[in-house]
Amino acid sequence: CSKEGASTAKVLKVGTDAGFAPFEFQDEKSKEYVGFDMDLIKALGKQMGYEVQIQNMNFDGLIPGLEVNSIDAVASGMTITEARKQKVNFTKPYYQAGLTIVVKNDNNAIKNFKDLEGKKIAVQIGTTGAAEAKKIKDAQVREFNNAPEAFMELKAGGVDAVVNDKPVNEYYIAQSGSKDAKAVGEPLQAEEYGIAVAKKNTELAGKLDKALDELKKNGEYEKIYVKWFGK
Ligand code: ARG
Repeated sequence: CSKEGASTAKVLKVGTDAGFAPFEFQDEKSKEYVGFDMDLIKALGKQMGYEVQIQNMNFDGLIPGLEVNSIDAVASGMTITEARKQKVNFTKPYYQAGLTIVVKNDNNAIKNFKDLEGKKIAVQIGTTGAAEAKKIKDAQVREFNNAPEAFMELKAGGVDAVVNDKPVNEYYIAQSGSKDAKAVGEPLQAEEYGIAVAKKNTELAGKLDKALDELKKNGEYEKIYVKWFGK
């Protein structure tokens, strides 16, 4: 019998750090990776004729994963930055975000980024939140492998604040019933998420851009957006 598998669909290996609800997280029951990014990349894959395989990994391992070709694409709420553009190719932006601050509910001292001077801040390693927190005067920045660990540290009282992406902060607060935490501050800067592919892989970036345009035209993008963020 033949060595080839029955399926002829091309495979798209997609890396993500699935601790970033509502963009990517593991469904407790099904154990599947779900969220806005997961639905979007599956829809893009389908549009391009690929079968999408998700690999959960650390956020700071995603760009190295593209560089050594262990994954083809990154769908992980990754902000398009100049520094990252030196290493990888991004698609067109697919989501507008920005950074906000999460503090304990009873904290009335921290209201904006200026108030974080000299404070203890938890962030996720390798993120824009980590980079921005490190610029704050006299702040003690503690880096965690993933966003849920940073939130746990805030809850445990080990830090004064978490600096992280606004939509993720809002989802976390809504999920925890706003008992413990609240988000403060205007978004520090506008950030846009893109899907990243290897620097050499301009062909795949082009295909993804084309598929994204098609999903925007045919209403599929809108459907996925409304599913995760409402109107
Ligand atoms: N948008 C931020 C960045 O690109 C944080 C992304 C974190 N994503 C994740 N799946 N943990 O640095």
